[in-house]
Amino acid sequence: MFNIVVCKDHEELNEKAFQIMKEVVTANTQPVLGLATGSSPVGLYKKMIEDHQKNGTSYKNCITFNLDEYVGLPKSHEQSYYTFMHTNLFDHIDVPEENIHIPDGNAADEEQACRDYEDALKKHTVDIQVLGIGSDGHIAFNEPGTPFTSETHLMALTEQTRQDNARFFDGDINQVPTGSITQGLASIMRAKKIILIATGANKAKSIQLTASKIDPSCPASLLQRHKNSTIYVDTAAASLLGK
Ligand code: GLP
Repeated sequence: MFNIVVCKDHEELNEKAFQIMKEVVTANTQPVLGLATGSSPVGLYKKMIEDHQKNGTSYKNCITFNLDEYVGLPKSHEQSYYTFMHTNLFDHIDVPEENIHIPDGNAADEEQACRDYEDALKKHTVDIQVLGIGSDGHIAFNEPGTPFTSETHLMALTEQTRQDNARFFDGDINQVPTGSITQGLASIMRAKKIILIATGANKAKSIQLTASKIDPSCPASLLQRHKNSTIYVDTAAASLLGK
């Protein structure tokens, strides 16, 4: 079973997540960071940037692997995960561009792109994997029902996820891509350490399910089987725990 840490506010949550990240970055000679998109990790990324600028913590030996990418959105689109990661983190720290891995959502052969990504990932062991969670319990873009044995694969986005993510696309669900390329659940579970960040009342249900029965209908519930995973929640996201 994972640890659940309930934080009083976002500052406390981001600080706790940041301290774990910093420990991994400074303790390893070649840290491998598994990174996520969405609004949940942005506070953590801000702290990493601040610390890099103030204290000189370096990412030049880090290798990064992102979880997922929309299919068919140009890299230059401001909501592509490629652009999101550069804007919110990579452009402000010293990780070399060649050490950054993000699935290719514009590959001519999408299935091959999945295999290539998984192969690249398997050459390393992720030291710390950052996760957010969807309101339907998805992690990365592994929607409910995804097999626990899945590796990097194509995933059609559910109506719920597209609705949730419409806020990044002028509130227009029609602009949200319908597909994604995502690390699978088995890929994610290989990480040595996992931290999942969830805030707000709209995550309360998925956090409740995550902590109840292990079942593919809530992909995040698989984290219960991980040896070193911690869920950081604010009081709103924790509000249905134990109910
Ligand atoms: C997207 C991402 C997930 C992320 C989720 C939650 O679907 N693919 O990795 O966890 O959004 O996003 P947010 O943190 O903005 O609520």
